[in-house]
Amino acid sequence: MDIPFLDFEKQYKEIEKELKVALARIFDRHHYILGPELEAFEKEFAKYLGVKYVVGLNSGTDALEFCLRALDIKKGDEVITPANSYIATSLAISYVGAHPVLVDCDPETYQVDVKEIEKKITKNTKAILPVHLYGSPCEIDKIMIIAKKNKLFVIEDTAQAVGASLHGKKLGTFGNINAFSFYPGKNLGAYGDAGAIATDSKELYEKVKLLRNYGETKKYHHVAFGRNSRLDEVQAAVLRVKLKYIDKWNKARNKLALEYIKNLKGIKLQKIISGGISNYHLFVIEAKNRKKMQALLEKNTIHTLIHYPIPIHLQKTYTYLKHKSGDFPHSEIIAKQILSLPMYPSLTSSQIKMITKHIKYFLQ
Ligand SMILES: Cc1ncc(COP(=O)(O)O)c(C=O)c1O
Repeated sequence: MDIPFLDFEKQYKEIEKELKVALARIFDRHHYILGPELEAFEKEFAKYLGVKYVVGLNSGTDALEFCLRALDIKKGDEVITPANSYIATSLAISYVGAHPVLVDCDPETYQVDVKEIEKKITKNTKAILPVHLYGSPCEIDKIMIIAKKNKLFVIEDTAQAVGASLHGKKLGTFGNINAFSFYPGKNLGAYGDAGAIATDSKELYEKVKLLRNYGETKKYHHVAFGRNSRLDEVQAAVLRVKLKYIDKWNKARNKLALEYIKNLKGIKLQKIISGGISNYHLFVIEAKNRKKMQALLEKNTIHTLIHYPIPIHLQKTYTYLKHKSGDFPHSEIIAKQILSLPMYPSLTSSQIKMITKHIKYFLQ
């Protein structure tokens, strides 16, 4: 019995009829860019999050970059961000010419270590860009206090954490302006690249709207160095259908996570902070002998992945930051030991039993 890492097929079957109706609407209308589906999705997603404004974009990476650009973060500025994340978080900072100032993670939550953030603040620091890693909340409430005290902006990288919350408030609604990804494998995934920003600031919202469409105010009138980063009508229609299911799917993931946790007693798992609700975008375990464990699972047709094998400070792209091995020890240990197990709403209890049986057998 093959257990895939993700199961797009089952999700598609669940929403196939609604998707076909939604897509037919577009193919009847022949309005493909900046049309009514996008407008509706932006309103519906803003309502879902509890924010005033959402702007649909081409990707989560563009969303991060546009958050920074809207806040006028530029060359010479510093942005504090975790070493333990997907590279896109730091790349966005580099795209605007600013400098990513990396911070290690907490060894239990894998999230940015808040105690380290204040130590990195200098006169050039403009913003903090934390990540809600694997779909679980980082200590965004504490980060907001640090930011307020030091007059810094906060941008949440909510790429992995749609629908997750801290103390009942959805992630991606704490910072000044926040980024989401709808990459297909995300909990709310489009059928192609897509992303969005969310904010309560009309000024930031309007800036991002300009940036995504060549800086255009009205047809062929341009006032900013924008580019083409529009969420197209097909993806917006897909996301509108899936948005109706996201809470149900996230709940199913939470239920499955509990089963994993029950079956994996004694194995180090990500700790969720108090008051936090994860969307379990990824379910990760730590394995000292990861390579062998992954090979054994693969041999038994259980497909796993590693998020992420190299922390940002050790990526070749960032050699110019002049970090070395040992600079962020917790991020480095996690990169060596982390393993992401299959996790999606259609995963079954018997599949979880099978996966955990092999893991326990390996660890005997
Ligand atoms: C933490 C994080 N930030 C940013 C991104 C970038 O999103 P996208 O792939 O939509 O550009 C991703 C997606 O993989 C991510 O996981």
